[in-house]
Amino acid sequence: MNVGIIGSGIVGRVLGNAFLSEGHQVMLGTRNTSKDELLKWKKENPSGSLGSFSETARFGEIVVLATNGSITEDAIRQAGIDNFSSKVVIDATNPIAPAPPENGVLKFFTSLGESLMERIQKLIPGAHVVKAFNSVGNAYMYKPRFPGGTPTMFICGNNEAAKKKVTEILTSFGWDTEDMGKAEAARAIEPLCMLWCIPGLLRNQWTHAFKLLKM
Ligand SMILES: NC(=O)c1ccc[n+]([C@@H]2O[C@H](COP(=O)([O-])OP(=O)(O)OC[C@H]3O[C@@H](n4cnc5c(N)ncnc54)[C@H](OP(=O)(O)O)[C@@H]3O)[C@@H](O)[C@H]2O)c1
Repeated sequence: MNVGIIGSGIVGRVLGNAFLSEGHQVMLGTRNTSKDELLKWKKENPSGSLGSFSETARFGEIVVLATNGSITEDAIRQAGIDNFSSKVVIDATNPIAPAPPENGVLKFFTSLGESLMERIQKLIPGAHVVKAFNSVGNAYMYKPRFPGGTPTMFICGNNEAAKKKVTEILTSFGWDTEDMGKAEAARAIEPLCMLWCIPGLLRNQWTHAFKLLKM
């Protein structure tokens, strides 16, 4: 598949490597294709490509959102709303506010009544947005190995076929997937990022992932 990743930060680059490792074609979207870290990424991944946000959204049969949460809606507009139509859109973003964390707890610019994912789905109503990858550090997004077993990725979204496709991707990336339902579930999944970051911000411990234990 052609995977277009809007966002060239560490998450975009790590997921880019992961999709390339699984045999997909990847374009990373950025405002500046000549940034040092992207030239390095391109050199290390000659089969990957770089493009603008709109070139990347057009390229992707699947599109990943990996931009800073506060500008993600702007980035989608720059990418072109129509370029997302009928596509599976994996939303890895978090609505982290610029204010500093309080006792290790990040501040969000959203409320418990409306997630960033729901705003994104409203902005691109023709797309099939699926929340994933937001509640684990980039070091564990691909083939995570923990002594406690396979970690759980919580996902949600309004389109069942899109969630099935994302579940296949997550399985190939080494994750167990738990489907939490429709887009509103992102009101609960996005704050898992806050929880995931607390040990890191308080004690510099960043080497963990969530696992759902079931009977
Ligand atoms: N870091 C992690 O381990 C982690 C884990 C899970 C989820 N996340 C979430 O994943 C997303 C990406 O995180 P990240 O750490 O890779 O990078 P980031 O610094 O949050 O975002 C980098 C991306 O945002 C774009 N950007 C920044 N300001 C912009 C603006 N004014 N207009 C348009 N685009 C702009 C950058 O564009 P350019 O390419 O043009 O510079 C770049 O592509 C975030 O929402 C984050 O919360 C992060």
